[in-house]
Amino acid sequence: MTLQQNNTEFEEFASDVARCLASKSKYLSPKYLYDKIGSQLFEQICLQPEYYLTRTEASILNKHAPLISKLAGSNMKIIELGSGSSSKTAILLSYLSSQKKKIYYFPIDISSSILIESERKLKSQFPNASIIGIRSDYGTGIDRAAAECMAIGNKNNNISYTKLVLFLGSTIGNFELIEARSLLRSVREKLHTNDFLLIGFDLQKDESVLNAAYNDKAGMTAKFNLNLLARINRELGGNLDPRKFEHCAFYSDERHRIEMHLVSKTDQKLYIGALGKTFALRKGENIHTENSYKYNSSQIVALAEDCGFTVKKNFTDEKRWFDLALFSPS
Ligand code: AVJ
Repeated sequence: MTLQQNNTEFEEFASDVARCLASKSKYLSPKYLYDKIGSQLFEQICLQPEYYLTRTEASILNKHAPLISKLAGSNMKIIELGSGSSSKTAILLSYLSSQKKKIYYFPIDISSSILIESERKLKSQFPNASIIGIRSDYGTGIDRAAAECMAIGNKNNNISYTKLVLFLGSTIGNFELIEARSLLRSVREKLHTNDFLLIGFDLQKDESVLNAAYNDKAGMTAKFNLNLLARINRELGGNLDPRKFEHCAFYSDERHRIEMHLVSKTDQKLYIGALGKTFALRKGENIHTENSYKYNSSQIVALAEDCGFTVKKNFTDEKRWFDLALFSPS
C-alpha cells in the first residue's frame, strides 16, 4: 500500500486552522489530533490506569465475542471505522479464526502510518486473512469499504457472508448528535437487512471517574492535546510554543460531554507560515479541541431508531461504564 498525505488534506487542515484561529470561539475538529505522533500518543492513553474505556470495551469483547459473532451470522466481512491499532478487533478476529472462519477485514483510518503498521501485524497473526486497509475519513471510507465488499462478492465456497460494521472505542462520542445521526444513516444505507453495526458507547457515570480519565496522572492526555500545536508547526510552518498552553479537560454534566481545550497561558501571537498570517490569542483564551459525549441507554435506543436501526443487544460491563451495542437494520 502506498499512501501519501495529499494536497487536499493539507489544504483542508490549513483552512480549518485559519478559520479556527480567526474566529471568536476557537474550535478545531478532533480528527486533527491523530497525526502519526497523535495516534501513538492515543495508544499510550489507552494504557493509562485512569482511561478505563479501552480496557472495559476489550473485556466486553473478550467475554462476548462468541455471542456477537453468532448473532452477526458467523461468516462476516468486517468493516471498521477508525480502526487505529486494531487491537480490540483482533479479539474478535482471534475468536473467528479459532472457529476456522475465513477473515475479511476492511480497516478504515485517517492515519496511514497506523493503518500500515496494524495491517502488517494482523497479517502475521492471521496469515489467511484478507485485509484491505482504507485510508480515509468515515464518510468516504464507508462507501469505499462497501464497494470493496461488493467486489469480493457475498458468496465464497458456497458460504454467504454478511457485513459487520465496527465503530468501537466510543468514537461516536466525538460527534454532535446531528453529525452522529448522519454518519449512522450513511452506514445504514450501505447495509442489507442481515448486516449489523457494532458500536461502542461510553456511558454517563460519576463525574470524578470521567474527569480522571481525561486528566491522567502521567500526562499522556495533555501530551496528546498539546501535540496538535506541534502538528500545526510541523505541517503548516507555525511558530506555536506548546509551553504557552495548558491542557484542560472537564466533564459538563449539562451537556453530557467531556470537553478538551488548549488554554493560552499568556497574551500571545501565533504565526502560521503556510497562511502567511499572524493571529492574536489572549491570556485565558482557549482552543476547543474535542468533545466526547457520554450516553445513557435511552439515548442509544433513540439514536438507533432515528437512523433506521433496532438495538438487537447491549453488551455491557459489570459497572455499566461502557456499552457495546449491536444494531440491526429495522
Ligand atoms: C478516541 C474519541 C474515543 O473521546 O475518549 C482520549 C479520544 N481524547 N482522551 C475519547 C480521547 C482524550 C477518545 N476517543
